[in-house]
Amino acid sequence: MAKILIVGANGQIGSELVGALAAKHGAQNVIATDISPNNLYAAPRYQVLDILDKAALAKLVEEEEIDQVYQLAALLSATGEAAPLKAWTLNMDGLLNILEVARVRLEAGKPMQVFWPSSIAAFGPNTPPVNTPQMTVMDPSTIYGISKLAGERLCEYYFAKYGVDVRSIRYPGIISYKSPPGGGTTDYAIAIFHAALKNETYSCFLEADTTLPMIYMPDAIRATIELMEAPSANIAIRSAYNIDGLSFNPQELFEAIRAKRPEFQIEYKPDARQQIAKTWPQSLDDSKAQQDWGWEAHISLPQLVDDMLANITV
Ligand code: SER
Repeated sequence: MAKILIVGANGQIGSELVGALAAKHGAQNVIATDISPNNLYAAPRYQVLDILDKAALAKLVEEEEIDQVYQLAALLSATGEAAPLKAWTLNMDGLLNILEVARVRLEAGKPMQVFWPSSIAAFGPNTPPVNTPQMTVMDPSTIYGISKLAGERLCEYYFAKYGVDVRSIRYPGIISYKSPPGGGTTDYAIAIFHAALKNETYSCFLEADTTLPMIYMPDAIRATIELMEAPSANIAIRSAYNIDGLSFNPQELFEAIRAKRPEFQIEYKPDARQQIAKTWPQSLDDSKAQQDWGWEAHISLPQLVDDMLANITV
């Protein structure tokens, strides 16, 4: 059993990770926090925390004797482009505050494991796009992607220099039904289901053939927990691991949905998010994650489509 802090619990990953960790470690051992006073997903324990308030973070970690923290508060790719300085401050200072608190705890003999999410957005236009290697050219072009790449370097630095047990995943686009689509370029693949269930024509902001790596939320949650539970000695990569789920483009996803809802229609109206998407990989080489902690995706596109259509409430 670990005593766990989740920062950004009202976001897409937090909304599902809180429950998964509470089931494993006990509801009283998982403290969900977010900047809003609203406990949007009925976390058993919830309190307000601004991740940019380092003193408040350190106090909470100390009082609750936290030994595992998930720092999930961030602005995503499209939202970040609308407010680059805000995105940089939140994404970088949020991570640095966690790493610093973890360093000080470790020096006081109280080790705290850290999880922080990286992303396919850390790659860029000169990255090999198919089966993207773990180690390769990374030249992100969004402020979100730049913060993810810098964050990866910080994670490795805090592990190498101070021994902080920090772990990270380069998530593909995560598809889920619990939270609304929230400012990401890959979120078309969530919004499309909402349109299908409302019997609306979906106006897609990416081009029909824009293939991106994606993952269904249950696989993403399992990856996160498996990485955090793996023995520290197995975790050879302290920047962030590639994980692959499944790859498809908007037209392929549309056709998979139309197989279940034959009346569904789509139109393509690419916007600025197309420019972002075309700099990202199409699929990822995740052999390091397979080797080091046994990663394997389970969920196929037809399973994902069935589950999304059965569970979204519109
Ligand atoms: N899903 C994210 C986004 O589209 C990528 O990490 O911004």
